[in-house]
Amino acid sequence: MKRPWLGVLSVAAPAVILLLAGQGCNRTMPAAAGAQPAKSAAWTAPDPSTIPPGPAGDSIRLGAHIFEETPKYAQAFVGNRLSCGDCHIQGGTAPWSGPMVGLPGLFPMFNERAKRVISLEDRIQDCFQRSENGRPIPWNGPEMIALLSYIQWLSKGQPAGVAFHGRGLEKLPDLRGDAAAGATVYSQQCAGCHGADGAGKPPILPAVWGPDSYNQGAGMNQVKKMAAFVHHNMPQNHPGTLTPQQAYDVSAYVASKPHSPFHEPGK
Ligand code: HEC
Ligand code: HEC
Repeated sequence: MKRPWLGVLSVAAPAVILLLAGQGCNRTMPAAAGAQPAKSAAWTAPDPSTIPPGPAGDSIRLGAHIFEETPKYAQAFVGNRLSCGDCHIQGGTAPWSGPMVGLPGLFPMFNERAKRVISLEDRIQDCFQRSENGRPIPWNGPEMIALLSYIQWLSKGQPAGVAFHGRGLEKLPDLRGDAAAGATVYSQQCAGCHGADGAGKPPILPAVWGPDSYNQGAGMNQVKKMAAFVHHNMPQNHPGTLTPQQAYDVSAYVASKPHSPFHEPGK
């Protein structure tokens, strides 16, 4: 079964093909079976035929390419082999995988980690420096503007100030992860795709530890956040089948493996 967002992208108008299949962008997904993420009854992804012609449309399309193939389209700012879309699933539209939909109407907002009010650009920078183990992208550069254009386009018709259904990550109870129990979950339910060595097979199967993965400063490196992501979205072929305890255990195991250090820029 195809994930809805990619299904839309691969069957509709020629603009769709251009959006993800054109210009050498050929990222595909292993088929997802079983539980699909909860969907908002009210929301459908914008039709790619609504991407305007000319420079505005070009920027949206570049943003989609950067989102799905970050190491290729934003090479200078990425230090690993992860793409935004490896964590923000279905092009940043799937609930409980940190969807992008509606974010332009929510930022600027207070950020717990930074202890200050930050802009959407700041938040994107954070994922470049931590999740992408990279460096800040220029605020006025074509890559940042393209990502903002894409996110704005995804958010068409979303009311400002209202969080999208499934914003952020699933809320799980606070549990303690047991890395030893997690090693068993990992070898039985994750290693087939992400590898016994955690290196995956980028760009199709992303790395969960090692030099090709996120660094120690990333949200995914926090056991609670990773457990919430994994519980709802993984294993990718049977999402929703782990108990919350198993999700914590496997996340504690992955967090115990090597990740690149995070260096605050300028420090
Ligand atoms: C390794 C996984 C990973 C990758 C890769 C990644 N992110 Fe994130 N991102 C996260 C996590 C985890 C969060 C925090 C979600 C939460 O705590 O609600 C997040 C949050 C965000 C947010 C804020 C969402 C909100 O609801 O406030 C934005 C914007 C964002 N990421 C953009 C990006 C962009 C753009 C890229 C690619 C350049 C990217 N991310 C790459 C994991 C990732
Ligand atoms: C069928 C293959 C498959 C299995 C099994 C699977 N994953 Fe994934 N995983 C993926 C793919 C593909 C992505 C990229 C997002 C997407 O396309 O759904 C991903 C993304 C991720 C990410 C975010 C990106 C990154 O590399 O940091 C994490 C973390 C993750 N998986 C953890 C797990 C854990 C833990 C398990 C076992 C419980 C698991 N996965 C099982 C295929 C799989």
